[in-house]
Amino acid sequence: MPPVYKRIILKLSGEVLRSDDNCISPAIVQEMSEAIKSVVDMGVEVALVIGGGNIFRGLSASRKGMDRTTGDYMGMMATCINALALQDGLESLGIPTRVQSAIAMQQICEPYIRRKAVRHLEKGRVVIFAAGTGSPFFSTDTTAALRANEINAEVVLKATKVDGIYDKDPAKHDDAVKYNEISYTDCLTKQLEVMDSTAFTLCMDNQLPIIVFDFHQEGVLKNILCGNAEAATVVK
Ligand code: GTP
Repeated sequence: MPPVYKRIILKLSGEVLRSDDNCISPAIVQEMSEAIKSVVDMGVEVALVIGGGNIFRGLSASRKGMDRTTGDYMGMMATCINALALQDGLESLGIPTRVQSAIAMQQICEPYIRRKAVRHLEKGRVVIFAAGTGSPFFSTDTTAALRANEINAEVVLKATKVDGIYDKDPAKHDDAVKYNEISYTDCLTKQLEVMDSTAFTLCMDNQLPIIVFDFHQEGVLKNILCGNAEAATVVK
């Protein structure tokens, strides 16, 4: 089946890279890289945004007394560490990958340049957007929404630990019901937290669909890209 999307943004939380004894597990990086390779092999242009919560979370630190701005900058640097780990995993599988950072660190990676990012994608390279938006007070979900709009991605795929959006927390309620498809407005009125409000608004205002799915569910990513999002939730 040919893919229904030509260009996607895949948003991964930093937590997915964590194992019990490591904040970055090389084995998990490898597993994720293989899943991403299967998408690249379908001919889909893939841009990645990765969080940094496995290493440092600015918001949590600020709740414990640290300056929020400093905490957020530390969090942005954490996303760079994760980006390099993923680049390493992908390139070990032969996938050319470029890391572009929103904060200049030119000895380590390229700066974020929209037109260059698009060119890399056109050439079949995976582009990893590191350092969030480069500004504190924004999340990596917002980065994904922003970059997706900038590079004309057709969808934001948000990988989470659950297989979609439920009417209530499925970890706490046995009778929680999953939505296969839901509108932006329904998410807002039902107060379903798909993304933080800045990220969500950026998607809604630009009619950018969001697909929430469980990254560890076998074959789900491929199915979504072939137009079968039954095992996920589509927000549009
Ligand atoms: P094309 O010119 O489209 O073929 O792209 P390219 O990325 O292969 O060419 P370029 O000459 O820009 O980059 C060659 C290598 O240097 C790539 O691995 C880039 O990621 C890397 N690179 C380019 N610019 C920078 C930079 O500012 N900092 C760092 N650290 N690496 C860079």
